[in-house]
Amino acid sequence: MTVLVTGGAGYIGSHMVLKLLEHNEEVVVIDNLSTGNEWAVSPQATFYKADIADPEALDTIFSNHKIDAIIHFAGLIIVSESVEVPLDYYSENTCKSRFLIQHALDAKVENFIFSSSAAVYGAPGLEPVSEAAPFVPESPYGTSKLMTELMLRDVAAVNPGFRYAALRYFNVAGADPQMRAGQSSRLSTHLIKIAAEAATGKRDGLQIFGDDFQTPDGTCVRDYIHVTDLAGAHYCALTYLRNGGASIAANCGYGSGYSVRQVVDAVKAVSGVDFKVTQAPRRAGDAAMIVADSTLARDALGWSPEFEDLETVIRHALQWERNLGNRTGGNPAG
Ligand code: UFG
Repeated sequence: MTVLVTGGAGYIGSHMVLKLLEHNEEVVVIDNLSTGNEWAVSPQATFYKADIADPEALDTIFSNHKIDAIIHFAGLIIVSESVEVPLDYYSENTCKSRFLIQHALDAKVENFIFSSSAAVYGAPGLEPVSEAAPFVPESPYGTSKLMTELMLRDVAAVNPGFRYAALRYFNVAGADPQMRAGQSSRLSTHLIKIAAEAATGKRDGLQIFGDDFQTPDGTCVRDYIHVTDLAGAHYCALTYLRNGGASIAANCGYGSGYSVRQVVDAVKAVSGVDFKVTQAPRRAGDAAMIVADSTLARDALGWSPEFEDLETVIRHALQWERNLGNRTGGNPAG
């Protein structure tokens, strides 16, 4: 049996490929390299440079390989950008997912794992958010992910052979502990990546967006999950679906929150670099607190994270950032 990973040349997808290979799975990757890097795809995987909406590429893949599961990461991920160009997000994240799901049904693929987001909840309030929380996405990005989840739900309802797991990611950070993969995009807007760039001298410093939120220190609280643990959650979901588990949507976070200030202090402590930090106004659309209730992923999927510790997440992010040097998109592994 073979797993098809869409977006397998990207940040999270490349870690997924490594996880699958560790479990001796056959892996096929499809990625159009719009943001991913070919060097990030392990040579042990079969790579197709193509768009997920390219019918010929999908036909070739489904006829050349016996795909029993699809793990679908390909898509756009910058929340602020989605506000500027919403139709791009609906096209890339929603319409192309619809196309892929249709091909999955035609090819009789039974297991589908979808890269969803905590953004489907919008601003959930000050308590850990469970999967039962209402959907109130506050950006086209969140809506584009939610629409795909709803398509999967409706398709699964009338196709008994097709089951899915929608995994809702909280704040993904860190890098492969063996430094085979990591966050390589210079366009990333994510806090730990930006702090790692500041600590390695690639930026002058870091701005803290807002200190007047209703949180203990006034800065936003988030649930930072190590990318390798996130890949592990997908592997658990794959096993769960293959064993006949019902379609499911599950949060992927640790259930513990850290404020922006705590993260910045931790990056300074781990790196030993006292980079410049300035206070800036709130960033549009930021919620005070987004922390996962991760009971379902642990209980139903049997997920048990290995790197549930902010310092470890930061250490790996920093090590990757140093290895990356000043190359833009270059392969730090050489
Ligand atoms: N932040 C700063 N300075 C920076 C970067 C970020 O203060 O330079 C702050 C943000 O304002 C926010 C926190 O750090 O309070 C985390 O911001 P990120 O950009 O790292 O992550 P978000 O919480 O905004 O986004 C994450 C995921 C998205 C998802 C979103 C909603 O990355 O994919 O949560 O759940 F859509």
